[in-house]
Amino acid sequence: GAPVEADISKLEPGQMMVVEWRGKPVWILNRTPEMLGTLPKLNDAVADPNSEKDQQPAYCKNEHRSIKDNIWVAIGICTHLGCSPSSKFAEGASQGMPGDWLGGFLCPCHGSTFDLAGRVFKDKPAPTNLEIPPHAYLSDTRLVIG
Ligand code: FES
Repeated sequence: GAPVEADISKLEPGQMMVVEWRGKPVWILNRTPEMLGTLPKLNDAVADPNSEKDQQPAYCKNEHRSIKDNIWVAIGICTHLGCSPSSKFAEGASQGMPGDWLGGFLCPCHGSTFDLAGRVFKDKPAPTNLEIPPHAYLSDTRLVIG
């Protein structure tokens, strides 16, 4: 499949957009400093905190699973059986999540939960973290996926 370009110039902090690449939804999330701050707190709660299972390009194998700290690009397909997780960005029980929920994603099919870097929580059916597709910056506001 051909690479796709995404204009992220209007993607405000806390917002997510979706582009399609190879028939798959690719999420682009502009994480706020608060959202980024949740990640280190969850290292003990997620199954593969350092993403050792190779679900991202080498340039995203870092603390934030991204090229730029804030902009996170991921394939929005659950690594269990391929359902579409929904975003649950608000913290706490207000979104029907546990009171200590710090924001992330919930797969409606079998309940896998992921943090704001797509890292799956422990003891969930999804075997690996959400996949990060190959991507690069053409400019500060233009990304190419694929
Ligand atoms: Fe997502 Fe099963 S498909 S938990």
